[in-house]
Amino acid sequence: MKGRLAVVGLGPGALDQLPAAVATELAGADHLVGYRSYLDQVPAELAPGRREPYELGEERRRARRAAEAAAEGQRVALLSSGDPGIYGMAALAIEEAAGLGERGPEVAVFPGVTAATAAASLVGAPLAVDFACLSLSDLLVPWPELAARLEALCAADVALVLYNPASRARRRPWEWAVASLQRHRPQPTPVAAVRRAYRAGQSVRLADVGSMDELEVDMETVVIVGSSRTVRRGEWLVSLRDEAPP
Ligand SMILES: C[S@@+](CC[C@H](N)C(=O)[O-])C[C@H]1O[C@@H](n2cnc3c(N)ncnc32)[C@H](O)[C@@H]1O
Repeated sequence: MKGRLAVVGLGPGALDQLPAAVATELAGADHLVGYRSYLDQVPAELAPGRREPYELGEERRRARRAAEAAAEGQRVALLSSGDPGIYGMAALAIEEAAGLGERGPEVAVFPGVTAATAAASLVGAPLAVDFACLSLSDLLVPWPELAARLEALCAADVALVLYNPASRARRRPWEWAVASLQRHRPQPTPVAAVRRAYRAGQSVRLADVGSMDELEVDMETVVIVGSSRTVRRGEWLVSLRDEAPP
């Protein structure tokens, strides 16, 4: 009998941001596969199935293992942070399940709150009109391709959400992003750096394009850069929906 592979989005971290449909999948799964720290976010009483933790960077192995276990007849939950379709596990899981051909399990993808909207909610409504997301990680995308997208998006007048802004060893894409934004956007354009949204140690820093090079960013930070429609209202950032900014 074929099992089922559910790819579930845990949201930004706090259990009260876990969608009800994801909680139902976690509760009913025989087997949970995920990065160790995502598994640790979910208490055993909410997800009593057998756990198979993986270390960071083993995404392909995790997806293959989850697809195999589901093909063998188990009900498997493959965990992703945020939303599994946004820089998450869903694409790999679908590929691996399809690669099993006739044996491939049924796959279902369960959305979660992604870092962009989690972070936006903490600073107001900066994504109220058009916005774009870009991951600054050049581990999977060749640098020339990433640099071309970065330049085009910095020049476009849309709010921009930067995922994976920098790690200890990888700072160049962030430095390029800052330089490109400072070339293309007015210096007072609002910027927010949100670290560990909805997790212990959450922090929110507001800056502007002119001073954003002073922000410290890491792999637990997401950065939101406003457009010409984004204004500050006290501590809030708002992208105006129906009028030109003053
Ligand atoms: C591999 S991506 C995974 C994104 C995830 N699938 C999502 O939809 O949020 C990891 C990046 O997401 C961002 N991120 C994820 N959770 C976050 C949180 N709670 N607070 C701030 N940034 C977060 C960071 O930029 C991090 O480097």
